[in-house]
Amino acid sequence: MTPTRRDVFGIGALALATGSVSAAPRGSWAADGLNAAAARKGVAYGSAVNITPLRQNPAYGRALARECGVLVPENAMKLAYAWRAPGPIDFSFADETVAFAASNGQRLRGHTLVWHEGIPAWARERIARDAEGFLRDWIGAMAGRYRGRIEAWDVVNEICGPDGGRADGLRASPWLAALGPRYVDLAFTLLHDADPAAAGVWNENDLELDADWIAPRRAMVLRTLEGMVRRGVPVRRLGLQGHLYAKHPLDQDQLRRFLRDVAGLGLAIEITELDVNDKNFPADLPSRDRAVSDLARRFLDVVLDEPATLNVLTWDITNANSWLNTNPQRRRADGSIQRALPLDESFARTPLWRAMHRAFSEAPDHRAARDRLRRG
Ligand code: XIL
Repeated sequence: MTPTRRDVFGIGALALATGSVSAAPRGSWAADGLNAAAARKGVAYGSAVNITPLRQNPAYGRALARECGVLVPENAMKLAYAWRAPGPIDFSFADETVAFAASNGQRLRGHTLVWHEGIPAWARERIARDAEGFLRDWIGAMAGRYRGRIEAWDVVNEICGPDGGRADGLRASPWLAALGPRYVDLAFTLLHDADPAAAGVWNENDLELDADWIAPRRAMVLRTLEGMVRRGVPVRRLGLQGHLYAKHPLDQDQLRRFLRDVAGLGLAIEITELDVNDKNFPADLPSRDRAVSDLARRFLDVVLDEPATLNVLTWDITNANSWLNTNPQRRRADGSIQRALPLDESFARTPLWRAMHRAFSEAPDHRAARDRLRRG
């Protein structure tokens, strides 16, 4: 599903229809962007998009157009934003994101159909009564609306329990309570019915860290994926969120083995939400930037060595919009802005941008694996 790359000086049809933000011309800016470096190796780089700053600040849209080959709405396609109250689903923010990506010739990921967070009270109540009907309506409407326009959908998000409380490793959630473990297979099947061309993704957090509770977590994911593949469930990719933390080391060998095992099941891999929480790194900027870049580079080297890795997305592109800076609980205690992402608050490229650009440029060629996996 390679998009037609085109320099766009106008705006897409859907953007016109919804009266939304337009893209900037790509021109030569894009030629040395992160996606250009990644694409030379058959990988795509992209970012989460937040519609509010996109409406307010044209520089943000230009940066996304220049650096990204693939976008994902940060919140617009979530239940909590699109279906806040019973009645019609509000697609306006999602439509704007889709139109913006189309106007830049960028591919799109969908995020996220089933999550334990952000379920409005009215929906909880219906899930308790009629979870299957609710899932059918929701996935049918959301994935159906963008049928044929989404490369991959995060079908389930963060479904591993944090506590290891259950033998199957699943997290307690309204979905599990109502349907039991079968909600996972069901959600993937419903996506396939709504949009057969979209790859179904299991998106998960805390698979990339090194801590004693990570090995059983990875084993659970592998075991569950293996069962799904055996049963013919239409799961095509595993998403590693890639939220990295200064306080957690990275065991490159174990991560490498895990990615190999996932690829061994015939699945593709995506990094879906990369950023670096620098809370435990030093305050002074040069040292902090160095530590952030080193951690990201160590991670990306392993991820990009794996031929099954298709996409690397960061969770927004500028520190100004990072959830690590906008969410008070995630801010640094010293009040200084987290240096989590490839662009700073003025959209200037940071040392992390340079580390990522080098990682893409020095990565092995993924094109053969990509062409095989995209068809899969
Ligand atoms: C976060 C957004 O960044 C916030 O704006 C929102 O308030 C809550 O969700 N893992 C995910 C994302 O899969 O959907 C989360 O996004 C961040 C953690």
